[in-house]
Formats: sequence, structure tokens, C-alpha cells
Amino acid sequence: MDGDFVPGAGISAIESRGLTRSFEGKGARVDALGPVDLRIAPGEFVSIVGPSGCGKSTFLYILGGFLQASAGSLLCNGRPITGPGVDRGIVFQEYALFPWLSVADNIAYGLRMKGTPEKELRERVAAAIAMIGLGGFETRFPRELSGGMKQRVALARTFVYEPDILLLDEPFGALDSQTRELMQDELLKLWRASGKTVLMVTHDVAEAVYLSNRVCVMSARPGRVVESFDVALDHAPGREAVMLSDDYRALHDQVWLAVRRQAGAAR
Ligand SMILES: Nc1ncnc2c1ncn2[C@@H]1O[C@H](COP(=O)(O)OP(=O)(O)OP(=O)(O)O)[C@@H](O)[C@H]1O
Ligand SMILES: [Mg+2]
Repeated sequence: MDGDFVPGAGISAIESRGLTRSFEGKGARVDALGPVDLRIAPGEFVSIVGPSGCGKSTFLYILGGFLQASAGSLLCNGRPITGPGVDRGIVFQEYALFPWLSVADNIAYGLRMKGTPEKELRERVAAAIAMIGLGGFETRFPRELSGGMKQRVALARTFVYEPDILLLDEPFGALDSQTRELMQDELLKLWRASGKTVLMVTHDVAEAVYLSNRVCVMSARPGRVVESFDVALDHAPGREAVMLSDDYRALHDQVWLAVRRQAGAAR
């Protein structure tokens, strides 16, 4: 990562203050989220874990510019979010591929929006398809793919155009464990090489602790950030050594207990 990276210094990549969202319907109001107070510095990799239905996806949709907040303020690189933008790449929990586009065209979408020259675009798409192990499937359509394959295309579609901020909603949930580990390591590589800001929602405490440099635990709905754990693992010794280390185990257990406390409070 960048040598002079100082978490918390300068303009935040994401700054959420008192952010809330409620949904109205059939006379009843659901308070889905917040108030969320969260600052993420450029280059941080933050994971959010918390009980099902606490508002994690809602928070990511608002950050992505697909949904408006009910109250509070939300800045992205110092500017209010007014809609979707190529500075933020989102991988939705439900993949949300374009059904009318082939695998290659789905992946090329963001690059086309950015006006990438055709030759460079083709090279980058080919590299992305190789990364997700879907060579030979370039001309297939989403309906012809399994859930895990669709999830890999969704990841490649976002990684390939290198947005400043990656918003990932349970990005590895549909993958078999071997592919999941491969894709996690790809994400780690990308993050370390690029210094991108990553905000990832996951149910997998092991994944959150292994990948991120901060894990935020949300309360039950309406979700607030109630606990935050800094992670400073050295990944150099490799996955197995990291996951068997005392530092990793201790953090994993602390986060796991924090999530359990919130899930328990919800019942
Ligand atoms: N469009 C909507 N209309 C009405 N209610 C909604 C809408 N979207 C979300 N909700 C409600 O908001 C709450 C939070 O939903 P959200 O999908 O953000 O949770 P989540 O933390 O992502 O859950 P999970 O871990 O299961 O994915 C839930 O109670 C859900 O029913
Ligand atoms: Mg969700």
C-alpha cells in the first residue's frame, strides 16, 4: 500500500453521518438502517458484518447511489452522492448482470462507459475472464450460467474498470469454497496493488477478518455500527499460516462473539 497512507487523514473516501433509511408501505413504516456514523479513509478495506435484515444492503445501495437516504449526510471523496457513478463499483448480492448482454459484454460495460479504446478494452476483458476462470464462456448469456459463475462475472465486471471505491455485497456467497478462496486472494491482490478503497458486506467472519483492515459490526435493524475491530495481519506467510496464527484466531473469536451479541439482541 501507499507509503504515506495515514488512516483518517485528509478527505475520507466515505463519510456517513447520522445516515438513516426507512421504508413506507401499507401503512407501516420499517426503519431499515441507522443512524450510521462511519468514516472510511482512502485505501482502507472495511468489512461490515451483522444480523440478517439489519440494513447492510440498504447502506450499500445508498452508497452506490441507487437509493436515497431518509436523513443524515453521506460524502464520497468529499462530495455528496447524487446517483450512481463510475467512481464507485458495486457488486450486488443478487449479481444483477445485464441479462441481454453476453459474459464479455457484461464485463466490458464499465470500460465502455469510461470510453476505453477498443483494443485495450478487449485485452482487459480477456484478462478478467481468465482471472475468473470462465475462458470459453465469453459469448454465453447470464441465463446459461450457474449462480457461482454469475457471481464471478459480477466481480470481474466491477474489478475490470478499476473504480476508486469497491462496494461488495456478499461477493463470494454463492461460490464453492475453492473458488471463494481464489477470488478472495484476487481481491486481496487487487487491493494491495491498487490501494483502492473497499467496503465489503459479508456474513463470513473468517473472510472479514482475513481480508480487511477493519471489521465493523452492525446492530440488528435498524443497523448502526456498534463495534469496530482493527486488523493488522501480515498476509506474506500465506493463507494457511495466517488463519492458524494466534493473532488471527483471537480477532476472529472477538468479532464472532460481537456478531453473536447483536444477533442475540435481535431475538
Ligand atoms: N425496498 C424495500 N421496501 C421495503 N422494505 C425494505 C426494502 N428494502 C429493504 N427493506 C427492509 O429493510 C430491512 C433491511 O434490509 P437489507 O436488505 O438492507 O438487510 P441486509 O442486512 O442486507 O440483510 P441480509 O444479510 O439478509 O442480506 C429489512 O427489514 C428489509 O425487509
Ligand atoms: Mg443484504
